[in-house]
Amino acid sequence: MTIKKRILSGVQPTGDLHIGNWLGAINNWVTLQHQYETFLCVVDLHAITASYNPKELSKNTLSTAALYIACGIDPKTCSIFVQSQISAHAELCWILNCVTPINWMERMIQFKEKSIDQANNVSIGLFDYPILMAADILLYDADFVPVGEDQKQHLELARDIAQQRINAKFSKDKNILKIPQPIIMKRGSKIMSLIDGTKKMSKSDPNDGSRINLLDAPEIITKKIKRAKSDSSIGIEFNNPERAESKNLLMIYSILSGKEISQCENEFSETGWGTFKKLITEKLIESLEPIQEKYKILINDPYQLNSILQEGKGKAEVLANKTLNRVKSKLGFFEIEK
Ligand code: TRP
Repeated sequence: MTIKKRILSGVQPTGDLHIGNWLGAINNWVTLQHQYETFLCVVDLHAITASYNPKELSKNTLSTAALYIACGIDPKTCSIFVQSQISAHAELCWILNCVTPINWMERMIQFKEKSIDQANNVSIGLFDYPILMAADILLYDADFVPVGEDQKQHLELARDIAQQRINAKFSKDKNILKIPQPIIMKRGSKIMSLIDGTKKMSKSDPNDGSRINLLDAPEIITKKIKRAKSDSSIGIEFNNPERAESKNLLMIYSILSGKEISQCENEFSETGWGTFKKLITEKLIESLEPIQEKYKILINDPYQLNSILQEGKGKAEVLANKTLNRVKSKLGFFEIEK
């Protein structure tokens, strides 16, 4: 029997998940779950790096886990768990904080972008976000980490910390931490905003019209696509750099319909925006309907969800604690004699 390689990934439970999270992340996990031993985390400790509502954190955590499953993650074979349930994440994060040079962190693009958005309210946690993410990954000896294009830099940081700051410094022979590799999906790894095709679709955009949420009702989807930014050209193109919105919607259409980009380009080479918007609206509604149905059943059965998360926690905790203990022991921490 060959041992499966392991993947780990996660999404933040900040408000509603949108099609960018789905097509860029969760949908890829759905494909990969058969081939890999899969650990999926709801990263609630990351969610508090920006201002948030404590009344909603727990509800959003549960609903994010339910959406993983509604989108096709199989809880029988994957371990789904909540980050804050496993204290090893915060503990390894602290240790990694103490070995990571601050100038490595000052290069992080996402931090720079987010700190502009958050102006006067930038926390140390936001700065530290990539190290917590490194801890998430390294704790599970993950072989691969499926992430969107925008997370590549964070993954490189995790690799550098593991290799240069832990393995090279604290062990002469065997690696203490496994060096993970990214899996960046070609299609869908960056779904853009509906109102500005040059910006990533994001939960933190104050305009809800910039994204299609997975739980949006058909009327809302129709309205959002109607208002989505278009241009005055006929034909929906993919490769015209001046037409970011056209490219984005064509990408979404191609993934949802399971057709190649080139096939969609041919199909819509003469199509006007009005007709294309109708078609993509139908596709979105039709694709989200089964997810929404499954979600409804799951969220109304908190007992089942709880037991899935309990089981995920059990499996994750064993691995996480093992790695944490290995690191602590190699870094010279006191151990009680048994
Ligand atoms: N930063 C990731 C994102 O925004 C979320 C995340 C946190 C993550 N920890 C992770 C992704 C570990 C992969 C692995 O998409």
